[in-house]
Amino acid sequence: MNTGMTVKLLHVVGTRPNFMKAAAVMTAVDRWNRAARTDGGLFRPRINQILVHTGQHYDEKMSRVFFEDLGLPRPNHYLGVGSGSHAEQTAKVMIALEPVLTAEQPDLVITVGDVNSTLAAALVAAKMGIPVAHVEAGLRSRDRTMPEEINRLVVDQLSDLLFTTSRDADANLAAEGVSTERIHFVGNTMIDTLKSHLPRALESPVVERAGLTRGEYAVVTLHRPSNVDGRQGLEQLVLTLNQVARKIPVVFPIHARTRARFAEFGLDTSFGNGPSIVLSDPLGYLDFLCLMAGARLVLTDSGGIQEETTFLNVPCLTLRKNTERPVTITEGTNRLVDPENVEAVVAAVDEALASPLPPERCPEYWDGHAGDRIVQVIVGWRASGHR
Ligand code: UD1
Repeated sequence: MNTGMTVKLLHVVGTRPNFMKAAAVMTAVDRWNRAARTDGGLFRPRINQILVHTGQHYDEKMSRVFFEDLGLPRPNHYLGVGSGSHAEQTAKVMIALEPVLTAEQPDLVITVGDVNSTLAAALVAAKMGIPVAHVEAGLRSRDRTMPEEINRLVVDQLSDLLFTTSRDADANLAAEGVSTERIHFVGNTMIDTLKSHLPRALESPVVERAGLTRGEYAVVTLHRPSNVDGRQGLEQLVLTLNQVARKIPVVFPIHARTRARFAEFGLDTSFGNGPSIVLSDPLGYLDFLCLMAGARLVLTDSGGIQEETTFLNVPCLTLRKNTERPVTITEGTNRLVDPENVEAVVAAVDEALASPLPPERCPEYWDGHAGDRIVQVIVGWRASGHR
C-alpha cells in the first residue's frame, strides 16, 4: 500500500432509510481515519468524505431529525430536488448532481438502498466514468411493479463494488451475471447503526408518552404505493387496523406519502371510531427505534423494518405479497401476509399474539461491523490501483 495515498468518497443520500445506512459507513470511515492518526498512518490511506443530500425527503420529520439523531454531518451539498413523478425526481437529481461530481472529482460514489436518488446517482457517476459502490446490493423482490426493484436492477448493473447484506443477494447478483470479484458480502449497515444507537434510544420516553406499556402494543407503518396509493386498498387497511386495535393497542406513525393519500381520499378521520389507535407524525430515529424495541408486534410494508425487527427479535407481519429480504423470514421474525386479505391479517395477528416470542436468531454478519468491512474493501480496491 502506498504511503500518503488518499481516497475521496462521495456519499449520496436522499430519503429516510438512506440516512442510517450512510451513517454507518461514514462512522466507519471516521474510525479508520482516527486509527490512521494514532498509528502514524504510515500504511493507511487517508479517506476524505463528502456528503450529498438530494433533498428527495425534505420535511423536518422525514429528514432533519435523522441528521440530528444519527449525528450525521451537515451535507456538503444539498440538491433540494423534492417530490415529483419518478422521471421528474430522478432527472432532477441527475441534473443537480452532475456539476457536483464535476467539481468534487471523487474516487468513488457511494449509493445506498433502492430509492430514486440511488438510481440517479449511479447513472450520473457511471456515465462520468466515476466508479460506483452500492451498499445493500443484490436484494430482489422479483416484482417489477415495485419502483425500488427497477432501481435495484439498474444500480447493481452499473456498480463497481457491490456490498451485500445476505448470501441470497450474492446469489441473485451472480445469477444476473455480475462478476464475483465485484460482490462483497459485508453484512448490514442498518444494523450497525441500530446497535450503536439502541442504548440511547431505549432512554426515550416515547412509549410512556403515547400512554402505552412496553411489550403490550403493536406498531404499524405503511407507505408502499401498492398499499396506500389506491383508495380501495387504503380503506381496507383502515378496516384491518381497526380490527387489530380491538386486540392490542396500535401506534401508527404516518409517513408523508400515506398522510397525503389520507387527505386526498378524505380518510383523515377514519380512525376516529377505531378503539386504541394512537396516530402520530413520523418519528425520529431514536424514538422510533425505542417504540419498535418495546413492541409486542409490528405490522409494516417497509423494507428496513423487516430487518430491524429481526435483529430486535420482535415479531413482524409484512403486509406485502413478496419481500426482497428473505433472510428476515428464514432467519428472523418476519412473515408475509397479503394486505388485501383482511381475515388473513387478523388471523396472523391472533397467531403472533398467542405465540411465545421466537428464539433469538440473527443473520450472518448483522453484527455491527458492516461499515468497517466496507472500508476495508474500499481501501483494498484503491490499493490495487483503481482510480
Ligand atoms: C421513498 C422511496 C421508498 C422508501 C421511502 C422511505 C423511491 C421510489 N421510494 O418513498 O423506497 O421506502 O422513500 O420513506 O425512491 N413527502 C413529503 N415530505 C417529504 C417527502 C415526501 O410530504 O419529506 C410526500 C410527498 O407528497 C411525496 C410523497 O411523500 O410526493 C412521496 O415521496 P417520495 O420521495 O416520492 O417517495 P416515498 O413514498 O417517500
